[in-house]
Amino acid sequence: PVKVYPNQNVASVDVANRIATIIKEKQAKGETAVLGLATGATPVKVYKELVRQHKEEGLSFKNVVTFNLDEYFPMKPDADQSYVTFMKKNLFDHIDIPKENINIPDGTLAESEIAAFCEAYEQKISSLGGLDIQLLGIGRTGHIGFNEPGSAPNSGTRLVILDDLTRRDASRDFGGKENVPTKAITMGVGTIFKAKEIILMAWNEKKADIVKKAVEGEISSEIPATFLQLSDHVEFILDEDAASQLT
Ligand code: F6R
Repeated sequence: PVKVYPNQNVASVDVANRIATIIKEKQAKGETAVLGLATGATPVKVYKELVRQHKEEGLSFKNVVTFNLDEYFPMKPDADQSYVTFMKKNLFDHIDIPKENINIPDGTLAESEIAAFCEAYEQKISSLGGLDIQLLGIGRTGHIGFNEPGSAPNSGTRLVILDDLTRRDASRDFGGKENVPTKAITMGVGTIFKAKEIILMAWNEKKADIVKKAVEGEISSEIPATFLQLSDHVEFILDEDAASQLT
């Protein structure tokens, strides 16, 4: 289903509330909440609201385990552009999540170590009972995570080559496209699909084109986000601009 909000602020508060509810329900049962998280501009206000609820309403993340979708490769965790830095700045530094509960693909591995790391990442998610909720943005290539065009619906966590458009869109953060890594480690489409609930968010006019293709277009690995049409537990959360081309 598609839900259109007047703006990304109200949409983000709604998504944050959904996450907070899962955390509290799990807390009440003495269980762990397993969250799949995304980086980029799209989820920033969701994290901001979660931080606010932690600071002002006592929402605790002690029983939360997180798995981020992706990380550039290679990438040092303390680099400004790393997704580790992004997550600390936007969420983890401001809440009470135990450090050992945070999982982000490791951009410092040797290429020969990546396959085993990815296998272990999948295993760890499964051993915790799977992702309770997965947050997604969408790239202008139609990627979810860094599953670029050509990604298979049953793909798992793996090393991928970034699309040229994705690298162009990231060039501002890196001071030029030539500085953007050519690869990334990402959860697969199959990994994402196993989440009990999937929320894809998109804001602004510049996403309207790809949102239309993702929601209404033919299902194809050319636009990996179209695979989400096959899931019965996905929600597309849009602002009016991102939804402006939907029929
Ligand atoms: C980020 C990720 C990407 C982004 C997408 C949109 O972890 O997996 O798929 O969600 O590139 O990026 P923004 O939100 O910056 O437009």
